[in-house]
Amino acid sequence: MLTRRQFAVGSATIIGAGVLSSGRAGKADVLDFRTPLPIPKLIDAAKEGNSVRLKAASSRHSFFNATPAPTYGYSASLLGPVIRLRRGDEVEMVVENMLGCDTTVHWHGLAVPGAFDGGPHQVVRPGESWRPVLKIDQPASTAWYHPHAHHDIARQVYMGLAGLIIVDDGSDSLHNLPRTYGIDDLPIILQDRSFAPDGSLVYSPSPLSVTYGSRGDTIIVNGAVGPVARVPRGLVRLRILDGANARNFYLRFSDRRTFHVIASDSGMLGRPVAVRELRISPGERFEILVDFADRRAVTLETGPDEELGAFGAMAERRINGEYEPVMRFEPTGTHPAVKDLPARLVEPAAADPARAVGRRQFILDSGMCMPSDHGDEMHMGADRVMCINGKSHDPARIDENVEIGTTEIWEVFSLGMAHPFHIHGASFRILSISDAPPPAHLMGWKDVVLVEEKAELLVAFNRPATAQCPFMYHCHILEHEDAGMMGQYVCI
Ligand code: C2O
Ligand code: CU
Ligand code: CU
Repeated sequence: MLTRRQFAVGSATIIGAGVLSSGRAGKADVLDFRTPLPIPKLIDAAKEGNSVRLKAASSRHSFFNATPAPTYGYSASLLGPVIRLRRGDEVEMVVENMLGCDTTVHWHGLAVPGAFDGGPHQVVRPGESWRPVLKIDQPASTAWYHPHAHHDIARQVYMGLAGLIIVDDGSDSLHNLPRTYGIDDLPIILQDRSFAPDGSLVYSPSPLSVTYGSRGDTIIVNGAVGPVARVPRGLVRLRILDGANARNFYLRFSDRRTFHVIASDSGMLGRPVAVRELRISPGERFEILVDFADRRAVTLETGPDEELGAFGAMAERRINGEYEPVMRFEPTGTHPAVKDLPARLVEPAAADPARAVGRRQFILDSGMCMPSDHGDEMHMGADRVMCINGKSHDPARIDENVEIGTTEIWEVFSLGMAHPFHIHGASFRILSISDAPPPAHLMGWKDVVLVEEKAELLVAFNRPATAQCPFMYHCHILEHEDAGMMGQYVCI
């Protein structure tokens, strides 16, 4: 088995120690899969009177049974609770900021108006709180929440601020999907981190980590290094979130078993789609069903990130064509298991480009471009700005105006490297990707797409946003977003 150190040293030789990853003495040399997969606390909003309290605060968390390291969390030492919301309910979120710096909480994937979206305009100052009331009216899906503070998203997420949201509309029981939280319905939050020798998180932006996004040498799942999940002997549903700052994961099982994708970002697919490997990019979610009826233990692993730009792809692939272990599954549970894969799920309406009222183009450029008039993009100690259509993000500038209730075709182009493009307040269907039709598992509703060269999206706008509280669209590589690869639109 490949050890963590071989992997780290291999990458570091070419990429340069302390550049894409810094500090590596703090991590485990070989994964032993002895840490049980941490299952974040579930908050079922309906059972709490539809009022959910989230306290963003500094904390301490131990990643290696070593001395606890400084972290951030939402009412937890790291990450936050999984929040279950029922379609049709109105839920009050009570966000308290005990961080000592400005923050916001964005409900990534929830269809709510701009004023409740938690983007960079809804700042929660230290010691203050924010109480949006969210009307939940969207199909079953896996969403998430994370900070969106101006120029400080990457660091805040890296330090631990992120959590999952389950939107429930009753289709789980209709299709007899695994739905017992923590047993056969598991949150899987994938991230990568680097640790200092004392076990603390290292986040030090440099010009290269801004260019490629910050990469860690150690993968964590729900905050744990190399965990194990004991699962029932049947179908298990994994709600996978790529919560990394920049890394794409190429997931497969060590025995190359087939598994089924049942949902993408914003909703279920028409039917389970069989795959053996699944790429997931920052911000994306997929729900998959894995069949453990054969009772064999298996490792989830990930391949080298091929989207690290020309230089990175060469380096990573040449040195380390191997997959590295992420976590282990052991089918030992006694819980009664769901056995049958549903034949059909929720067929999304046909994606009809003829309904589009217009077409816009967005060029995501991680090369050098001019700072905006505001001139405040020189931050993070790295004199890089990143652009969409030649313009770096300016909170005072509205870039696009769309009409609520319409659909448009958005053509997105990537320059420099592949960028995971995300739109707030809307979801979309992929019409084409690199000029080809999307694979079956990318044919449903989404809100993030990894654009290697070009993607053509059919975007449905049905939530309002004013110039005071516009919606964002941006690259979900958090360092790119912080460096200005973000625009904003009004929807009225
Ligand atoms: Cu995950 Cu602006 O979003
Ligand atoms: Cu979002
Ligand atoms: Cu990007």
